[in-house]
Order: sequence, then structure tokens, then C-alpha cells
Amino acid sequence: MVGWFSRMVVAMTIRMPRWFVGWVSRRYVAGPKLDDAVKVMKRLANEGACFTIDVLGEEISSMDEADFFLEEYKRVLNAIIENNLDSNLSIKPTAFGILLDREKGMENIETIVGLAKSHDMFVRLDMEDHRVTDDTIQVMLDMHEKGLTNVGVVLQGRLFRSLDDIESITEKIGSAADYRICKGIYLEPESIAYTQRNDIIEATNKCIDAMLDSGAYVGVASHDYPVINHTLKALEERNMGPSKADPRKNAASPRKQKGPGYEFQMLLGVRGPLRRKLCKEGHTTRIYIPYGEKWYEYSIRRLKENPTIGTQVAKAFLLPWTNRP
Ligand code: FDA
Repeated sequence: MVGWFSRMVVAMTIRMPRWFVGWVSRRYVAGPKLDDAVKVMKRLANEGACFTIDVLGEEISSMDEADFFLEEYKRVLNAIIENNLDSNLSIKPTAFGILLDREKGMENIETIVGLAKSHDMFVRLDMEDHRVTDDTIQVMLDMHEKGLTNVGVVLQGRLFRSLDDIESITEKIGSAADYRICKGIYLEPESIAYTQRNDIIEATNKCIDAMLDSGAYVGVASHDYPVINHTLKALEERNMGPSKADPRKNAASPRKQKGPGYEFQMLLGVRGPLRRKLCKEGHTTRIYIPYGEKWYEYSIRRLKENPTIGTQVAKAFLLPWTNRP
């Protein structure tokens, strides 16, 4: 259950003036422009991190907006190459139009994934709420069928279905699968998802084990110690780790700009000391860099989607030493 404090922070923040929300979100969003994202990445590259870039946007209502995302991601791709950044792309299939016009939406996604492939770059399909889980997985499978294997999905540990999804994806594409596993930001109904913190952690950890055992590439996206510590133990049990070739017999060959079968992923502005510690120990650590003109809408939507973020944001500001960027 979401606590009263969290609800209060969210209720207060969404009523605050735009400048205040901007001040709060400045830690989590690189800025409104692509140049802002490039600057942040250049700075954080000194810490040994690599990146994935997300162009912020709301649910689109016309295919013109999908065209905007396609063009903006082309600019992102060019900026990554021109600035020699170790980064890939994170896209939302809905922003490319798959729910409005499936054929054109798929064409848009194919264009950006194809362009990325020609530069040996990976594309992650972010996962939205349960209404688009099937579609998102299907987009990834369709791309693989077309030979565009530089694309992978996100699965959410909180959803009951995720272990079955891993099994069915493994049956279809084997170790060519490349996952991001996270708890899931969307507060899904009890009929389809775990809702208690410990259950969510346990379910997420089971997914991590299943993904590792399937031979897939696994990006563990969490700032939570029980998930990270479980991952470290799971890696050790499989003789996996930094600076070691991936020993799994069923693993795919090493991927360019990726870790040895796994990596850690964190959001910009969250738990920097932990990220730097993992990086120092030699683990590949990727930072999710959101930027865009829609930073205000994005911040408000995330707060409304998951009011527990309210507590984390408040904690980050009131007790900054517990969660430095
Ligand atoms: P938890 O929420 O328990 O956080 C652990 C600690 O980390 C908190 O106590 C706090 O200190 C800190 N923290 C976490 N989030 C914070 C925040 N926003 N502000 C301040 N402190 C914070 N979800 C999804 O549904 N689809 C997706 O595609 C993705 N993609 C994605 C990419 C990456 C790189 C990450 C790291 C996360 C996602 N997520 C996501 C979000 C994910 O599902 C989850 O909601 C958050 O990561 C928070 O869960 P944790 O495992 O970090 O634990």
C-alpha cells in the first residue's frame, strides 16, 4: 500500500508551479535538449559509465507525433556517433505509433532499429503498462525475424506472467534474447501482479535467475540492495563476473559495447555512490538518460503512475547523503 507521506508529496508536487517541478526533476532529467543529454553523458563517462538515451514524451495521439520521435531518435543516433559516446537507444513502441497505426508504427521502429544496426548499436524497447506487454514483446520478435537482432525488451518482475514470457521468448530466439529486467514502475492490478515489496523483489530475482540460465544477455535495472546483492550472488554461482569471458555454454557470442553476459543499469540521479562502486569493481554500469521538452509532463506522469516515487524524491532531497546523484 502506498503510504500517506508518499501520497502527500505527490499531491503537493503536482500542484506546485512548473519551476518547482523543474527544480525537483533536474536531478533525474538531463534537460530539454539533446545537447543537454550529450553534456551529461560526457561528464559521467569519466566515471566509467555507459548510457542509454530516452527521448521524453507522452502518449501520442497522432502519427505526426510518431514522426517527431523517429526524427529525434535519428538525431540522437547521430549525436552518439559524432561524440563517440558509449550509448544505445531506449524507445517506446507506442511513441512510434504502434497503437495508432500498427503498420506505420512497425515501419518507424524498423527504420530506427535498422539504422542503429548499421552502426552496430543496440535498441531497447522500454516496457509500459500491461496493456502493451504482448505488443512490445511481439515487436521485438518481429524485428528478430527480420534479422534485426540488435533489439531487446524489458520485462517487469512484478507481473505474474514474466517467467512464462522468458520461457516463450527463449523457445523462439534462444540466447539472442537481450533483456532489461526491472521491478516495473506501473502499479498493476492484484489480479496480474505482485503488489507487496518482498514479493516483487523475490519475483524479480527469479526472473534474473531464469534469464541468466537461458543464456540471454541480462541488464539488471534496479537500485535496490536485495536485487543487486542477489544478482551478484547469482553471477558468482555461474562463474560470471567482471573481466571474465561469459562462461555459459548456451550464451550468444559477446556483444559490442556490452558486458560479459550482463550489466547493471540505473536511472540518472539515483544512487550514484552504489553505481560508482559497481563500476569500480569492474561491472558494466549503464545510466538511463532521459531528456526532452516534455520533462514537465514526464515528471508529473511518473509521480501519478507510482506515488511511492514521492517518498524517494522527498528522501533524496531531505536526506541527500542517502542517495547522491
Ligand atoms: P526501489 O524502488 O525499492 O528503490 C530502491 C532505492 O533506490 C530507493 O529506496 C531509493 O533510495 C532509490 N530510488 C529508486 N528510484 C528512485 C527515484 N526515482 N528517485 C530517487 N530515489 C530512487 N520500469 C518499467 O516499468 N519499464 C521500464 O522500461 C523501465 N525501465 C527502467 C530502466 C532503468 C535503467 C531503471 C533503473 C529502471 C527502469 N524502470 C522501468 C523502473 C523500475 O521498474 C523501478 O520502478 C525503479 O527502478 C525502482 O525500483 P528499484 O528496483 O530501484 O527499487
